[in-house]
This record gives sequence, structure tokens and C-alpha cells, in this order.
Amino acid sequence: MKNRRVLTLLVPILLGACAGESSSDRAALPNKPWKDQSHDERMVTMKKLVYPTMKEEFVRFDSKDFSDMTCVTCHGPGAKDKSFKMPNPKLPKLPTTEAGFEKLKKDHPDVVQFMMNTVVPKMSKFVGEQPYSPKTHEGFGCFRCHPKDTTPIGG
Ligand code: HEC
Ligand code: HEC
Repeated sequence: MKNRRVLTLLVPILLGACAGESSSDRAALPNKPWKDQSHDERMVTMKKLVYPTMKEEFVRFDSKDFSDMTCVTCHGPGAKDKSFKMPNPKLPKLPTTEAGFEKLKKDHPDVVQFMMNTVVPKMSKFVGEQPYSPKTHEGFGCFRCHPKDTTPIGG
């Protein structure tokens, strides 16, 4: 009788030690490609693999802006409503034309280089796709995260 009491007192304390952790924090990384993973499995991959790796890269690029990077930095409203739907409408809109892209490169050279040379190649590996190719118009590119700015340049 006495022992049971101790247990009922202990269990919430033990559980409390994991407070803030959901089941996906303890799950193992799914042993299958991203395209075959369920939403819950993708949750684990994001938390354990994608988020820590990408945060490290963003912090290396700009420690002031990204030291507090979270899921919300990439996902925006999708992180709050738990759908994690991409693209994230709150990220800056990017031009879809070649002229627009050249202008963007000129106006924001550092961040565009970082996005092209680090973010896109790393993210495409995680999801098991080729980086976007302007020749074939296929692969993982900017618009998997960013929304499109369809207003004509100068307009
Ligand atoms: C560097 C940006 C980035 C960060 C940070 C990030 N994600 Fe993602 N996440 C993505 C992208 C891009 C996709 C879509 C991949 C695709 O096109 O298949 C995605 C997809 C997902 C999906 C799959 C949605 C579905 O059902 O298809 C889940 C779940 C998810 N993220 C959860 C998280 C969680 C939880 C965190 C924080 C621990 C996080 N993400 C952090 C970029 C990010
Ligand atoms: C995996 C998701 C992801 C991909 C893919 C991606 N970006 Fe980004 N991008 C981000 C995030 C996150 C930010 C930071 C937003 C913030 O500061 O809160 C960002 C910011 C930017 C900014 C804004 C910088 C500023 O000063 O406001 C530009 C410009 C940009 N990206 C261009 C690109 C280009 C061009 C590509 C493709 C070559 C690309 N991005 C691909 C996630 C992504």
C-alpha cells in the first residue's frame, strides 16, 4: 500500500522530466527516404536532422539574425497550425523571371549566394531530390520555401 503511493507520486515526476518533449523527440530517425515518410516520420527527420543542420548553416551565415532560428523561421504559419505546409507565404516573395532573379542577385548578393550554394543543395539532399535546374525546370528550388512574386519587375 505504502509502495503504491510512492509510485503514484513518482510517475508524474518521472514524466515531468521529459516535459516539453513529444513522442517524436524520442523516436529514432526513419530508415526510409523522405518521399516515403509519413507526416509523423517527417516530423522526426525535421527535428533531429534537418533543423539542427540547417540552423547551424544559417547561424554560420548570420549569427545575429539566426541564433534563435526555430521551425517557424522556415515554416511560418504552418508551424503554428501544425500542417508544416510549404511554401511559407510569410517568407519574402521571389521573382520568377530571369531578369528579376538577376536583379535579386545584384541587390542581395550574400544571401542569394547562401541560398543557392548552401540552403538549396542541403535541403535537396534531405528530401532526396536534385537541386533545381534552370534547364529542365525540375528539382528542389527556392519556391519550395518562398512564395512567388508574379508582379513584373519595376511594377
Ligand atoms: C531550413 C528550413 C526548415 C526548417 C528550419 C524546418 N523545416 Fe520542416 N520543412 C522544410 C521544407 C522545405 C519542407 C518541405 C519539403 C518538401 O518539399 O517535401 C518541410 C517539411 C516539413 C514537414 C512535412 C510536411 C508534410 O507533411 O509533408 C514537417 C512535418 C516539418 N517540416 C516539420 C518541421 C519541424 C517540426 C521543424 C522544427 C523542428 C522544421 N520542420 C524545421 C524546411 C524547414
Ligand atoms: C529551405 C527553405 C529555403 C529555400 C529552399 C530558400 N530559402 Fe531563401 N530564405 C529562407 C529563410 C528561412 C529565410 C530567412 C527569413 C527570415 O529572415 O526570417 C530566407 C531569406 C531569403 C531572402 C531574404 C533576405 C532578406 O534580407 O530579407 C532572400 C532574398 C532569399 N531567401 C532568396 C532565396 C533564393 C534566391 C533561393 C533559391 C536559390 C532561396 N532563398 C531558397 C528559406 C529558404
